[in-house]
Amino acid sequence: VATLCPQPLLPWTSLFPSPSPVLVYHPLVLLTHILGLFLIHVLFLICIQAHPDTEVHTISLYNGLKSLMPLWVQVQNFRKAIEEIMNQSPEGVHLLCFSQGGVICRAVLSTSPNHNVHTFIALSSPLAGQYGDYLMKAFPNCLKELVYLVCYHGMGPEISICDYWNDPHHRADYLRGNTFLPLINGEKPHKLMKDWRENFLRIKKMVLIGGPDDGVITPWQSSHYGFYDASEDVVEMRNQEFYKRDTFGLRTLDARGDVSMCVQSGVEHTKWHSNITVFNNCIKKWLI
Ligand SMILES: *[C@@H]1O[C@H](CO)[C@@H](O)[C@H](O)[C@H]1NC(C)=O
Repeated sequence: VATLCPQPLLPWTSLFPSPSPVLVYHPLVLLTHILGLFLIHVLFLICIQAHPDTEVHTISLYNGLKSLMPLWVQVQNFRKAIEEIMNQSPEGVHLLCFSQGGVICRAVLSTSPNHNVHTFIALSSPLAGQYGDYLMKAFPNCLKELVYLVCYHGMGPEISICDYWNDPHHRADYLRGNTFLPLINGEKPHKLMKDWRENFLRIKKMVLIGGPDDGVITPWQSSHYGFYDASEDVVEMRNQEFYKRDTFGLRTLDARGDVSMCVQSGVEHTKWHSNITVFNNCIKKWLI
């Protein structure tokens, strides 16, 4: 495995659009990932302009290469930062999370019993996992078909991407070897599932944003909880097992009418947070 798939080639910063910030509103917390702060600040400014009276906090942790740290470690520290803001905002906050940040936020919501997040906005996040060539730049000389060997059997727990690498051709390995996404999405039963579902369902609204021209999130429908089946056909959210079995609260949230989906074409992954049309169509109305 080691010779087939050497250590990820650095710098990873070139692979990722922005830090994994959260933006909190109401106040809004903005959490994005992965590269410098600049892009997140664009979104920050757009939000401030649209809602001048709203406090906006950005959380900037694990930027650049550090964004590759294992997600459970990142979740722990993002949770601390978000909790601090929530404690100052008893009326509740909105949470806007970009890219890998959305996966982190999902985990924070499920593992925080007393959170007061009203609206959770996931901006182009691989919520159902990632199985695509783009991130393969990180594994030179390695076929995406082989990444599962690294992620589920090798260095998996040490690198963030493996935490949401979801190889549709190696389902059993994914369930056994991935210690993050299958737990968060309740695909692998565990004893905290019921608590995690309750915690997650404290949110009042979830807004899912993504689109076919993203170019990084693969399949792009993962931003809307769709994912590949074993034939690499995309199965939409409502036909996913985790939805049908309501393993983490998604079906309940949807039945409540609290899942909002926003699909936007013509937006590349690195452009989501600076695109004013996306903001106006998909985000603005929720930041109240
Ligand atoms: C901005 O988003 C709209 C759709 O919301 C898209 O048509 C347009 O191409 C995007 N512009 C850029 C620069 O990404």
